[in-house]
Amino acid sequence: MIWIAGTFFCSLIFSISSSSQVKADSCDIYSHPQYGIGQCIEQNQCPNALYQSGLCESQPANIKCCFSLGPMTEEFRAVWIATVTNIDWPSSRTATPAQQQTELINILNTVQKLNMNAVVFQIRPVGDTFYASTLEPWSLYLTGAHGKAPSPLWDPLTFIVSEAHKRNIEVHAWLNPYRGRMSGATYELSSNHMAKRFPKYAYTYNKYIWMDPGSVEVQQFIVNVTEDIVRRYGVDGIHMDDYFYPYSDGTEFPDAATYTAYQQTGGKLNKGDWRRSNVNTLI
Ligand SMILES: *[C@@H]1O[C@H](CO)[C@@H](O)[C@H](O)[C@H]1NC(C)=O
Repeated sequence: MIWIAGTFFCSLIFSISSSSQVKADSCDIYSHPQYGIGQCIEQNQCPNALYQSGLCESQPANIKCCFSLGPMTEEFRAVWIATVTNIDWPSSRTATPAQQQTELINILNTVQKLNMNAVVFQIRPVGDTFYASTLEPWSLYLTGAHGKAPSPLWDPLTFIVSEAHKRNIEVHAWLNPYRGRMSGATYELSSNHMAKRFPKYAYTYNKYIWMDPGSVEVQQFIVNVTEDIVRRYGVDGIHMDDYFYPYSDGTEFPDAATYTAYQQTGGKLNKGDWRRSNVNTLI
């Protein structure tokens, strides 16, 4: 068996037959970013016509490299696309949708060129959205104004799922469950923002607005938001960030009333254990 570095994007195993003809009979060291390990088989046997030509050289024309739909064994090679405060995208919240789309396409093309297979796309940085939602307001970081829909209307999550999948890149939807507004931001929150829905559990802490992870209603709301995303979008995963209490600023997180309510219903955990169990419950 001779190992030959094949085309620019894969390696093939070549075997030498008795007639000394070089024949590619396997491409199982080439791992397709989405479908896993390939095999050289007849095209009409490929599941869902998942095949790639050119990988099974010296074969009859109907032999193609097909890809397994089995459990994925390849690496998760991903980048984050952070939207909060416009870290990665969109570079401008006042750019037109067409400009923002071009920028997103450029990111995906770079990800593809670098042979990555997933993006972790931040769609809910501060209880606001980069997708059309009936539960929560549009993100300030998308349109320049909290709660303002893009004009002309488009849905960045729909767009990225479609464009990423064309490039065999997975999309993992990244949510920050409890963060309600960034430190120091002062804009007025929309009436359907979680801090307005559950004002009793919305605290100012270290100049952020942070929801109380000990509130069962807040937990349930986040579950509802997540379920809504999974039902309506073809995302490949959910990525929970900051699913815990805020980093300490040296003062006590102001959840004394929630803890007292827990104790009054018979809760026995000390405060630290109770907080840890709240984090575990959401996840
Ligand atoms: C979550 O969704 C369920 C089903 O629609 C609804 O009954 C419930 O009130 C929602 N909970 C919160 C906290 O929004």
